[in-house]
Amino acid sequence: MYNEIDLDKIDLNSEAPTEEPDRQYYYIAKCQKWIREFENTNGRRPCFFTQTFGCQMNARDSEKLTGILEMIGYEKADSEEADFVIYNTCTVRENANNKVWGRLGYLNNYKKQHPQMKIALCGCMMQEEEVIEKLQKSYRFVDLVFGTHNIYKFAELIAASFEQDGMVVDIWKDTDMIVEDLPIERKYSFKSGVNIMFGCNNFCSYCIVPYVRGRERSRKPEDILREIERLAADGVVEVMLLGQNVNSYGKNLEEPVTFAELLREVEKVEGIKRIRFMTSHPKDLSDELIAVMGQSKKICRHLHLPLQSGSSRILKEMNRHYDKEQYLALVDRIRKAVPDIALTTDIIVGFPGETEEDFLETMDVVKQVGYDSAFTFVYSKRTGTPAARKEDQIPENVVKDRFDRLLKEVQSGAAKRAEALTGNVEEVLVEEINRQEESLVTGRLSNNFIVHFKGTSDLIGKIVKVKLQVCKGFYFYGELAK
Ligand code: SAH
Ligand code: SF4
Ligand code: F3S
Repeated sequence: MYNEIDLDKIDLNSEAPTEEPDRQYYYIAKCQKWIREFENTNGRRPCFFTQTFGCQMNARDSEKLTGILEMIGYEKADSEEADFVIYNTCTVRENANNKVWGRLGYLNNYKKQHPQMKIALCGCMMQEEEVIEKLQKSYRFVDLVFGTHNIYKFAELIAASFEQDGMVVDIWKDTDMIVEDLPIERKYSFKSGVNIMFGCNNFCSYCIVPYVRGRERSRKPEDILREIERLAADGVVEVMLLGQNVNSYGKNLEEPVTFAELLREVEKVEGIKRIRFMTSHPKDLSDELIAVMGQSKKICRHLHLPLQSGSSRILKEMNRHYDKEQYLALVDRIRKAVPDIALTTDIIVGFPGETEEDFLETMDVVKQVGYDSAFTFVYSKRTGTPAARKEDQIPENVVKDRFDRLLKEVQSGAAKRAEALTGNVEEVLVEEINRQEESLVTGRLSNNFIVHFKGTSDLIGKIVKVKLQVCKGFYFYGELAK
């Protein structure tokens, strides 16, 4: 739809429309005027830099911000030495926050030398009251602060910040709105994330996401399919369907649809060759989904299935709604239906009250499942979550020791799984020129493993057959197969 919008036809002398997305196109046109003035004075267009600190959903939001900025007329910069810097923040663990505070210190110095520049902060961290208080008290040099629920209003907020002095702050506690049809600028030409739902209702006891992303809202299947059809027409061959718990997709729609039904429809979109999704909560993973995965030609042979802990006692404390046995039985059912599937996971070490026995249960699941890769995290206390109020927080040295042991187990299991693939010829989607060695390209197998092989940039976005020659633990070196 935004391809068809003629911004010059928007009458800026009239009031802003109240309907979305029309209102935002009005503000995009309005901001465009300032950009033209900047260009006339400076002989160049202003440039912007966005940095994403969080997950795939956060990254997709950044693509939305970029789409709006480019439509306004900003140019992309490669570094923070830009006219407009936007940090899209994450707060899932304390170190995600610390990174942002650290970068802000640097930006403050840069802005002192370039007072005309603008700084915006948005994303999950901005949904926390203490963060806003700290910014208003000690970070007055920030121009614009908004949250996760109103990023669609970015153009309107930029306009507000052009029009008024001082910090513009707009944070919503929650929303039931989903605004469609605003511009989005993809990072990759051939693959794209697609939000299928927003928010989370699960309240795992350690997790801040439900508090900062609000209640679960699913997009209508027809809106999702329309977006994917458009992406396919634009050269996209791989889509990643995004949600905090894709397995509960569609439950709260007026006409309920299951995630498996949605996948069947996505499968029919011509031009799409690979379908991925993130994240699958084990408690809601249905047999219907397993069956669809088994039959599909396009769904990738990869499932990310966060375990969090292997101890049934800890899983209960985490409010995960499955136990060790149920998780292992689920893995069995999946492997039976899709024997060549790669399984990856997330694990938290040092949840309050975790004993050595609990930890050994986690190690046991890791051994039994044999993950192809796993993200391991040290438990991070998040203010406002039930787990943060628990008294028996685990000492740092104990957590560190468990973390190291777990990582070793994960890595050796993953290396064995990868080793077993050596010699195979596999389909690979070529993603980019290798970052270290220009004569190589880097591609991804259906099962999400990475392979580097000799090739040129014309292969980017294509699916080719590659022989996996040397296994390097979690990636391969290979050769184009004849
Ligand atoms: N919705 C996804 C996860 C999103 S957050 C799911 O339920 O699987 C990504 C990962 O961060 C989680 O799977 C969890 O392993 C980790 N995580 C979340 N909160 C955390 C915390 N307080 N400390 C450490 N890791 C955490
Ligand atoms: Fe957090 Fe649990 Fe929701 Fe995942 S499902 S985002 S871990 S509350
Ligand atoms: Fe972080 Fe928000 Fe994603 S807290 S992990 S960016 S949903």
